[in-house]
Amino acid sequence: MAELIDPFNRRIKYLRVSVTDKCNYRCGYCMPPEGVHPEGRHTEYLDADEIERIVRAFAELGVRKIRLTGGEPLIRKDLPQIVRRIGRIDGIIDLALSTNAHHLARHARQLAEDGLDRINVSLDSLKPERFAAITRGGDLNKVLGGIEAAQRAGLNPVKINMVVMKGTNDDEIEAMVDFARTQGVEVRFIETMPIGPAGISVMDQHYPAEQILKRVRAHVGDELIPLASRSHDGPARNFRIGDSDTKIGVISAVSQHFCETCNRVRLTARGVLALCLGQEDSVNLRDPLREGISDEALKVLIVDAIKKKPERHHFNENIHNIEFRQMVNLGG
Ligand code: 5AD
Ligand code: SF4
Repeated sequence: MAELIDPFNRRIKYLRVSVTDKCNYRCGYCMPPEGVHPEGRHTEYLDADEIERIVRAFAELGVRKIRLTGGEPLIRKDLPQIVRRIGRIDGIIDLALSTNAHHLARHARQLAEDGLDRINVSLDSLKPERFAAITRGGDLNKVLGGIEAAQRAGLNPVKINMVVMKGTNDDEIEAMVDFARTQGVEVRFIETMPIGPAGISVMDQHYPAEQILKRVRAHVGDELIPLASRSHDGPARNFRIGDSDTKIGVISAVSQHFCETCNRVRLTARGVLALCLGQEDSVNLRDPLREGISDEALKVLIVDAIKKKPERHHFNENIHNIEFRQMVNLGG
C-alpha cells in the first residue's frame, strides 16, 4: 500500500487526533472565557469506532505515532476506550496524550495499562493563584497530583508544556527549570502562537525562544547541549543541561519555521483532516465515513488529502486569515 508522502517529499508518520474541542479550563491563549460550542451536538464528534477506523487506515498507510489531544481529552468519558482501541492497532508504536492533567490522577494507571506510552501536560505556572488565573479556574494541586500519578504509572518522561507570556508568567522560567530538575520531568517552553482570536489576543505577550534559552543558561550556569531531534519532537528544539539528565526544549512557531521537517497532520474532533497548523487546507473524513465508504476508499481519500499539504505555515505574513481557526479545533 502507498505510503503518505506529501508534495514536498515529507513522509507523514504522525497523526494528532483531537477527541474534543471542549475543555474544563479556559486558558486565555486558547479559549474564549465562555468556552467553545457549549451547544455542540454530540453526534458531530467522531465516536470511538470512527476514530479507530481512521487511525487504522493511517496505520496501514505508514503512520506510526498518534497523539490524542483536545480541548481536554480526559473530559470524554470514552477516552480510556479510545486509548485501548488505538493501543491494539498494528503499526502504532507510540501513543501519547496531551492533557491539562486535572483528571489524570485517577486514570493514569489504567491508561498506561491500556497502551498509552507518554503524556504532555500543559502547566504555565507553579503558583496556585496565578495558575487559577491563567486557566480561569484551574486547580494546581490536582494537576501536580496528576503528574505524579503519571510518573508512578510509568508514563515517563512526562513532558510539561509551558506557554511563556511576557508579564504573566515569564518570571517563572527559572522555577520551571528547577521543577524539571527536582521532579524528573522534561519542560518545553512555548512561544505564544497567533492561532484563533484567543491566540492573537496574547501575541503582545510573545516572548522569543532565544531569550528563554538565554535565561535558562544564566540560571543553570551551564551549557545547554543540543540533542539530536527525534521524529516525534516535531517543532521542539531540545537540550540537555550540562552533564545532568535534565532536558528542556523550546518551541518557536513564530520566530522560527520548522516546516521543512513537518511529518504530521491533524484530525479534528469533528473528523476533518487539517493538513497544516497555519493554513486552511482540510478534508472532511467524517461525512464519507458516515455515508459508508469502504476501508480502501478511505485510504485513497487520505492519500489524496496529503497531496494538499502546504509547504509551510504563514503566521507572520497572514495573521488575519487564520483568525477564525482555533487551536482547540486543531488539537494543540
Ligand atoms: N500559543 C501557543 N501554544 C498554544 N497552545 C494552545 N494555544 C496556544 C497558543 N495560542 C498549546 C499549548 C498548550 C497546549 C494545550 O496547546 O502548548 O499547553
Ligand atoms: Fe484547555 Fe489546554 Fe486550551 Fe488550556 S490550553 S484551555 S488546558 S485545551
